[in-house]
Amino acid sequence: MELWKISLDKYNTNDNKKYETLFTLANGNRGLRGALEFSSKGNRGNYIAGIFDKSQSQVTEIVNLQDPLGFNIYIEDEKVDIDECDLYSFKRELDMHNGVLQMKFIATTKKGKSVEIKCERFVSRNKTSRWAAKYEITPLNFDGKVFIENYIDGSVTNSTWDVMNKTKHFKVKNIYDSNPGIALTIETNDNNIKSIELTTLMGENNKGNIFKNRRYSEFGEVVSEVYETFMSEGKTETIVKYGISISDKDIRSDLIAEGTKELKDFIKEGYEAEVEAHSNIWRKIWDEIDIKIQGDEKAQIGIRFNLFQLSASAYAGDTTVSIAAKGLHGEGYKGHVFWDTEVFMLPFFIYTRPDVAKALLMYRYNTLNGARENAAITGYKGARFAWEAADDGLEVTPKWGVDYDGNAVRIWTGDEEYHINSDIAFGIVEYYRATNDKEFLVNYGIEILLDTAKFWQSRVEYNKGNDRYEISSVIGPDEFHEHVDNNVFTNYLAKWNIEKALFFKEWLKTEDNVNYKVLCSKLGLNEEDFNMWETMTEKMYIPMSEDGMIIEQFEGYFDLEDIEIEEYDENEMPVWPDFKGNKLGETQLLKQADVAQLMIMLPEEFSEAVKKANYEYYEKRTMHKSSLSPSMYSIMGLAVGDRHNAYKYFMKAIYTDLEDNQGNTDFGLHAAAAGGSWQSAIFGFVGLRVNKEGVLNINPWLPEQWEGLSFNINWKSSRIGISISKDKIEVDSTCEATVIIYDKSYLISDKKQLVVAR
Ligand code: BGC
Repeated sequence: MELWKISLDKYNTNDNKKYETLFTLANGNRGLRGALEFSSKGNRGNYIAGIFDKSQSQVTEIVNLQDPLGFNIYIEDEKVDIDECDLYSFKRELDMHNGVLQMKFIATTKKGKSVEIKCERFVSRNKTSRWAAKYEITPLNFDGKVFIENYIDGSVTNSTWDVMNKTKHFKVKNIYDSNPGIALTIETNDNNIKSIELTTLMGENNKGNIFKNRRYSEFGEVVSEVYETFMSEGKTETIVKYGISISDKDIRSDLIAEGTKELKDFIKEGYEAEVEAHSNIWRKIWDEIDIKIQGDEKAQIGIRFNLFQLSASAYAGDTTVSIAAKGLHGEGYKGHVFWDTEVFMLPFFIYTRPDVAKALLMYRYNTLNGARENAAITGYKGARFAWEAADDGLEVTPKWGVDYDGNAVRIWTGDEEYHINSDIAFGIVEYYRATNDKEFLVNYGIEILLDTAKFWQSRVEYNKGNDRYEISSVIGPDEFHEHVDNNVFTNYLAKWNIEKALFFKEWLKTEDNVNYKVLCSKLGLNEEDFNMWETMTEKMYIPMSEDGMIIEQFEGYFDLEDIEIEEYDENEMPVWPDFKGNKLGETQLLKQADVAQLMIMLPEEFSEAVKKANYEYYEKRTMHKSSLSPSMYSIMGLAVGDRHNAYKYFMKAIYTDLEDNQGNTDFGLHAAAAGGSWQSAIFGFVGLRVNKEGVLNINPWLPEQWEGLSFNINWKSSRIGISISKDKIEVDSTCEATVIIYDKSYLISDKKQLVVAR
């Protein structure tokens, strides 16, 4: 059972922010950071997916909503504050199997009163508006009056840790005694989105209600109810806090009436019934997503943490939101959505929960008008997806930030990191290859493929002298180099994006001619454009080394000062080499996988020898300053036979947050690293890939200490279970399917398990 738990045995106030991220409970619709009720230190956060606002902040950001977590215990006149009390037997545990956060401790107040407190909390996956906490309180050396305070705090802001950027995105509208409980409604400043939090406490034992008195209060933007009770030494009393959060983004009816009804229904159905329904759903999700690793407990817990938090960040019920770079776990990157979703997280959902993958892609479809506006206002045609997107698809990348030394720097990614367009096209094609979802392709996917290709048509530049198409002044995945010309990742994927648009428009022409014509007229495309696209794909410039083996990351990259990484820290991660007075961009050092990233995304396009040569060249120059990078090098290493590094990078990826190895877990989950962790296990160690003919291949290699690895995937209409042990591979499938294992093709029937010796 411990293999399902993330535990913390020692309390340290300085770690509060990190554990708020690690212990966030989310259900795809909303995320509640794992703040401690009994400490005021940390950055509390309560977010509903899709509620964004700009107000006075630099750019639109996810709103930190009113905080419903408020809960205090007073023993006579002393508050139980774990930063002030003596603390014993402290333990927090995230039970990932059931989706429940637990805590227990014994606290002794300044006046010597000791109390044992056990609590648990969940954010329901059953009814996404519900959340609850249960507190078991046992006085250890006293009988006396105990006061329990339940409150909702409407005074919260975004960026509490950064005074110059602190912003309040809403106005408190109503504070009231809602019977049951207390309620606080807010309205966001720009879009007038309303949201309500309602909470109340129920304290009961075998004699019924334990509360003697209740006092309702309003303190500015805080609403509170305090209950008085009497507790006896050694006797445990149980108090349940019920919570409802809803916004008018999700419901059209009267929020207050709906919220009150919901809270009453929740109390009627009870804590136990809801937590059971919620945990049942989590257990079902686990049946779809789990990767079992035998023989390596650290890897087992680590991979599960990533699968848990990534799954917590999404659900299929909303096609207007996507997963932010930091999940629903914090305000890092302002809740914005990047290429992280399509390239790093989406494969996990495609193969485990395709309905969620589809919802994520539908977010791009639903924000296509924003992408069109991005293209138009920067002088281009078609759709230009934002490097950082929020609710409407418009570009929201901040223009200014700070560098590694704290100096103000202009951020160019929103102006130049164009590859996001092809990354989204890539996500669509990957989704279709694995699911065969024609309905999606015909009605939504092809429109995106065509309109992104139309953008590229307007963005590429024809170089007459060399008779080739070029793309100048871009940023590729490696963000250390700005304003570069002909970044291969960008050029190659732009070419690929146009090729796929051409391929699928031909397909659509025969599959659904009416839709084809409607699309051509809607997007303003005809044969002249398509002919032009053909020429562009033939003449797109891809810089190479002279012998054709090493791809030059961008034009002129090989002329930069060549510095290799020579030193590694205690975690085997690169130590900054001396740039000898040069700026980072004047060296060949990379922030993250770039050429390697391209070869992972399009493995069939490069020979084994070219992949190996490029892996070896770029690995020595990659600093992994983005958490997106290690998992990709793990996959690439395995593809070219570098097995030692593969395990190292896999562990680095799965422990990104658990060991805080990028140093910023305080600000949210590294959701792309979580998706990369799944890819590293499945595309890396299992060697799962779809070949050019569209057939599923596996080519497993397991690290020495792994006795086995097993998982399920969705493939077209089948569900395939794969189990790899030291001496064999077992595969079963719900429908007939062909799988190539170590280069040999097998037809799996739904009736009989396939066993292949290793
Ligand atoms: C990386 C980007 C990534 C972003 C959000 C940056 O540090 O360089 O590739 O999209 O973080 O995770």
